[in-house]
Amino acid sequence: MSSISESIEFIRSQCEQVPKVALQLGSGLNGIAASLTNSKAIPYADIPGFYDTSVPGHEGFLHIGELSGVPVLCLQGRVHYYEGRGFEPVRHTIRTLAGLGVEILLLTNAAGSLNPHMPPGSLMSIRDHINLSGMNPLIGPNDEEIGPRFVDLMNAYDPELRELLQRSARNTDQRLYEGVYLMTSGPTFETPAEIYAFRTLGADAVGMSTVPECILARHAGLRVAAVSTVTNFAAGMTGDSLSHAETEREGKAAAGRLSDLLAETIGALGA
Ligand code: HPA
Repeated sequence: MSSISESIEFIRSQCEQVPKVALQLGSGLNGIAASLTNSKAIPYADIPGFYDTSVPGHEGFLHIGELSGVPVLCLQGRVHYYEGRGFEPVRHTIRTLAGLGVEILLLTNAAGSLNPHMPPGSLMSIRDHINLSGMNPLIGPNDEEIGPRFVDLMNAYDPELRELLQRSARNTDQRLYEGVYLMTSGPTFETPAEIYAFRTLGADAVGMSTVPECILARHAGLRVAAVSTVTNFAAGMTGDSLSHAETEREGKAAAGRLSDLLAETIGALGA
């Protein structure tokens, strides 16, 4: 049995009903898992074949529960490319979700803002992405059972889900920006010269995740939406230095609003 089948079989054995919606939490956003009801938390380390994460602030638990009464799988902690294990861990994770029958993947992350009018604390729905990681998680032999060799990334971030996010933002009295997310491999933050260049490329936010998950999920036919929590102005936009501690702090500060947005969105998906 492949390790993906092992992960699927184990997770299935833990669910009364396998959720159609999965939620990936980003840096500083772990607290959102606390708003799940009827939930249980399984350490990644206990799931056969699953990968653990090594980044502070990324807890490494799969939560099976409900948000707004809708069954949801919530991934608290993700493995990043910069951890040096390539894209295998994220491939495994997304293909496990696809194999379980998950249909919608909601991704969250922490990001730096390249837009002077989108300050720290803002939430941004990703309209499109620019993959500057230098890699693509689908490089290698293609498994036709999962998806096609050449994947269309038009509307990679599902227009209906983006509209639903905007409606949910209005219903929870908050502003939801929409923009282009640019991924670098990390783990360094960017230089001011890179940020200047990325602004001319059309990026609104920059971060070190989400793009591989989106590509893998689209390959496997899942619908995707993603929300960035702006934790800082990107390098060189102010005189300030950047730090992971700031990312975690600002992520936590915005987590309540993001949680409201997600609860409203997922509630509507179940309606
Ligand atoms: N750059 C890259 N990743 C990030 C940033 C940033 O400024 N802020 C939070 N994650």
